[in-house]
Amino acid sequence: MCKRDPPHKTARSRRYSGACWPNHRERDLRVNAFQVTEQKLQATPATWLVTGAAGFIGSHLAQTLVSLGQRVVGMDNFSTGYQHNLEAVAKAVNHGGHWQFIEGDIRSLEDCRRATAGVDYVLHEAALGSVPRSLEDPLLTNASNIDGFVNMLVAARDARVRRFVYAASSSTYGDHPGLPKVEDEIGKPLSPYAVTKYVNELYADVFATAYGMETIGLRYFNVFGPRQDPQGAYAAVIPRWFDELMQGRPCQINGDGETSRDFCYIDNVVQANLLAATATHPDAANQVYNVAFGGRTTLNELFYYIRDLLREQRPAIANAEPLYQPFREGDVRHSQADISKAANLLGYTPAFDVAAGLARTADWFVAQSPRQE
Ligand SMILES: NC(=O)c1ccc[n+]([C@@H]2O[C@H](COP(=O)([O-])OP(=O)(O)OC[C@H]3O[C@@H](n4cnc5c(N)ncnc54)[C@H](O)[C@@H]3O)[C@@H](O)[C@H]2O)c1
Repeated sequence: MCKRDPPHKTARSRRYSGACWPNHRERDLRVNAFQVTEQKLQATPATWLVTGAAGFIGSHLAQTLVSLGQRVVGMDNFSTGYQHNLEAVAKAVNHGGHWQFIEGDIRSLEDCRRATAGVDYVLHEAALGSVPRSLEDPLLTNASNIDGFVNMLVAARDARVRRFVYAASSSTYGDHPGLPKVEDEIGKPLSPYAVTKYVNELYADVFATAYGMETIGLRYFNVFGPRQDPQGAYAAVIPRWFDELMQGRPCQINGDGETSRDFCYIDNVVQANLLAATATHPDAANQVYNVAFGGRTTLNELFYYIRDLLREQRPAIANAEPLYQPFREGDVRHSQADISKAANLLGYTPAFDVAAGLARTADWFVAQSPRQE
């Protein structure tokens, strides 16, 4: 049991349970390790492909890389991504960085070959997210998330990329009851989406052993931050609640609100990707890693955090309360990651806890919409 708190934990964030932090010296060394990685990349720029670059996570990855002076190719078919996310990437180009976008579909091997030509590192984010979407249309999810994934592996193999880092998912833990989640203890998948993400891991492993590729899967846990899409039936809870509260609309909670998740701010995910692509530890490649903060936040806590962050801008919601609905079938009750494997082999140290990430996300949502009295 880890009793240490992150050094910047505030009185507010003390409500979060269970984050496991290294001592200050270990943490400083790891934060340093990431700074060293950024400096190395700036000194010797590489060529990167980010698939899903018009999406939430992909656009942040591409934006960081171009701002570090890298040559970055983005690919997307705009099925759930947006042109305006690409504009943020283009604005970040500096210090000799180069940005090129290819409108393409990972279900086409030809498009994948076009995008991987001459690339050093692939960060593969393109996929159809959302468990409910996959339950409604398993064929569509399968085509992008499995056929598209294998196309990307084949293209990356033939282009002889140095490393193939891909977005895996905490949904792979399925019905395994263990907490915190450790990488080699998984249960049965609970949705077509979870099946696709697990199959990705199996394929990556086979391509590593059969063809000598270097692959790394990052099992993201509930990522959030600026630019995450609040719209539509499949929106994630954090952008949806920000949007609803900004509009003065009620927020719904499925169940009693004591369901908990390991919410992870986007900058931590960017850090994990850059470290995964460049890690030199002899055991780092051909593994999967949890990418999370390593804590647990209930939906009730989350709601009041977001409401309190927005109450200055939207005084009318100062006393808003959530609307409680019946539990949703298939929802896992608690989720929390053990992040020690990523810490030990990649040097991953999440720099933002949930409170710090929500504050930045609130600033972004507020900046998007005019003040109301
Ligand atoms: N956001 C999370 O909390 C989370 C958690 C676990 C895993 N993931 C995974 O991370 C990745 C990125 O997720 P996100 O939250 O940024 O989602 P997103 O929907 O914002 O981004 C996905 C991008 O992929 C693109 N895309 C989808 N199918 C495509 C295809 N066939 N060809 C080309 N482009 C295609 C979409 O247009 C979109 O821009 C996904 O693989 C997702 O499964 C996300």
